[in-house]
Amino acid sequence: MQLIQAKDYDDMSRKAANIISAQVIMKPDCVLGLATGSTPLGTYANLIDWHKKGDLDFSKVSSVNLDEYRGLPADNDQSYRYFMKTNLFDQVNIDQSKTYVPDGMEPDSDTACRNHDNIIKEMGGIDLQLLGLGLNGHIGFNEPASEFPKGTHCVDLTQSTIEANSRFFASIDEVPTQAYTMGIQSIMLANKILIIASGANKAEIIAKAFLGPVTPEVPASILQMHPDVTLVADEAALSVYLKQKSEMEG
Ligand code: GLP
Repeated sequence: MQLIQAKDYDDMSRKAANIISAQVIMKPDCVLGLATGSTPLGTYANLIDWHKKGDLDFSKVSSVNLDEYRGLPADNDQSYRYFMKTNLFDQVNIDQSKTYVPDGMEPDSDTACRNHDNIIKEMGGIDLQLLGLGLNGHIGFNEPASEFPKGTHCVDLTQSTIEANSRFFASIDEVPTQAYTMGIQSIMLANKILIIASGANKAEIIAKAFLGPVTPEVPASILQMHPDVTLVADEAALSVYLKQKSEMEG
């Protein structure tokens, strides 16, 4: 894993956006794997800014998103399709017919998941996958489990994830309890992975994921096995990781 230390959230966002931007410049028709959550917002804001300045062209890029709440329509302001439209797609020149988010309104979960996997396959796989990190180590919505799920699947969200995400909803009862998410295998097949984290509340889980044992109990720990992972994290998020690493190295 390549570690890029950032000072704070803004610095993390700029560094992550630089990596995505390099990918788009080097391969204009690349497939970007995109993520939602509060962490990537600043990264997307930089990409939008650079696009508006004329430095970044998304016209040939296609994208695939990690996950979507089951049962939320695209125009619901908490759906991940809506998030992507507002925070990136509507503000850059990406062809939105080439942006894929699992279909939260497809009631048949097998169909929704198979379709998403087929799309990734047809696109020839993901060049660069951006990931955030859940407080319990989830990536996408791959929650702690007894085994690593492979392809896109339907998950029951854990109570801690429902609580963490309730800040975006009027009340906790409105948070969907299920989601469609790309599996660990789909994520691990990406050529490059860029994981971003900011803030002290991610410090424990970063240390666990990157220094602890590889276990489905901490889904992000599988990234230790990926040949091309870059972690961009700020000082607060790295505090426990750096301390434990220096203790391990004696
Ligand atoms: C959600 C998303 C994840 C995201 C995680 C962390 O549950 N499904 O993809 O990485 O939250 O979110 P945040 O970036 O807001 O900490």
